[in-house]
Amino acid sequence: MMREQDNIRLTRTGSGTPAGEWMRRYWQPVALAEELDGERPLVTPRVLGQDLVLFRDEEGHLGLVDRGCPHRGADLALARLEDGGLRCVFHGWLFAAGGRCLEMPAEPEGSLFPSKVRLGSYPVQERNGIVWGYLGPGEPPAFPALDCFAAPEAYTFAWKGHLDCNWLQALEVGIDPAHASYLHRFFVDEDPEESYGKQFRAASQGTELPMTKILREYPRPRIDVQRTDYGMRLTALRRLDGPGLDGSHTHVRVTHQVFPHAFHIPMSADMAITQWHVPIDDTSCYWYAVFTSLTGEVDQAEMRRQRVAAVTLPDYRPVFHRGNNYGYDPREQRDLTYTGLGTDINVHDQWAVEGQGAIQDRTREHLGSSDRGITTYRKLLAEAIGTVERGETPRFVTADEEEAAAFRGPVALDGVGPSEDWEAHWDKVTTERRSASPWAGVPQAAR
Ligand code: FES
Ligand SMILES: [Fe+2]
Repeated sequence: MMREQDNIRLTRTGSGTPAGEWMRRYWQPVALAEELDGERPLVTPRVLGQDLVLFRDEEGHLGLVDRGCPHRGADLALARLEDGGLRCVFHGWLFAAGGRCLEMPAEPEGSLFPSKVRLGSYPVQERNGIVWGYLGPGEPPAFPALDCFAAPEAYTFAWKGHLDCNWLQALEVGIDPAHASYLHRFFVDEDPEESYGKQFRAASQGTELPMTKILREYPRPRIDVQRTDYGMRLTALRRLDGPGLDGSHTHVRVTHQVFPHAFHIPMSADMAITQWHVPIDDTSCYWYAVFTSLTGEVDQAEMRRQRVAAVTLPDYRPVFHRGNNYGYDPREQRDLTYTGLGTDINVHDQWAVEGQGAIQDRTREHLGSSDRGITTYRKLLAEAIGTVERGETPRFVTADEEEAAAFRGPVALDGVGPSEDWEAHWDKVTTERRSASPWAGVPQAAR
């Protein structure tokens, strides 16, 4: 059980809070690139409790700025994109994407006042379908070459979803390998051939067995957690020793936590998902995901078609939510899925984390040994917050471009192989697969 003051310390991320200061040391996802595709490329993201305007100027440069005009505080959500910048519609002040004031049309001609006023602005860049902003002090860190960023864009697909809860519980479901056997249990396995783009529906690598069958039949994995430079590596082992099997094979699922607030999981033999959980404020967050293929271009239109039907735009709010009981159907719960909440596992996770309350009260929980991913992450998080408080650099932040560019992986895996020496088996398989990929390098740990 956690002390109340510790729960507050780990979950609150507004400006000036300990966790907020820590989180601001990293690039944060602020929008999908597709949100700027319309006729007027301007959106108003709220990130870590800060209201921002993200836009593309007429020359295509991205700007990420404060939403309040520095003149008299008008809302720049309605600003005009013209004359090489963003123009406030209250008195016509014009700002460049970098925040410089270019014009104050009502001030006397030749006035030096524009050179004295700036609109708060933040470093911003686009990477494989997501626009990232840096809201912290000083220069932003180098961008780590995680697979999802190292891959050519055609090998990736980006998406997001809204959650009505604190960011930490949203992340914690992704570093909890035990829940998949229950929350995502299917009583009927779909044909893995039909699984393109769907989570948990493919066959596990090295076998014809659908992941759903293995998860259902072996609900007590052996979970191990290792600390790494970037966060943690989690392994969940399920020894296949059910009726008619001799235990010589083991299902291995390797997932990761990547600082600050991402997890990285396998989707199929070919594709992995990297998913961040960025606070909108302390009681809501967005998850942003990049799906990355090692072997071939991703069918982005199909991936989008599957997902866009489950949300309302422009906010990417799920169609199923607390107000309609997440689409719960008791007959389905009897015959098809453990939850009765449909076959989209994002809805299952959403139900789980939103049901914990706006900010989960961790003073009342009881964590077991199967929760060691969560307990380890909380320790790393508390350490990182302390590191920033001491004025030092937290985990997985570097200013060194070469070091960041040399990063490879991490390697996520869902496969069935020999129980003996399973690490060596999967190191070999992984190294071969990655060596055959048109773009992926082999991570240090797998060499
Ligand atoms: S408030 Fe924006 S120009 Fe005056
Ligand atoms: Fe889940």
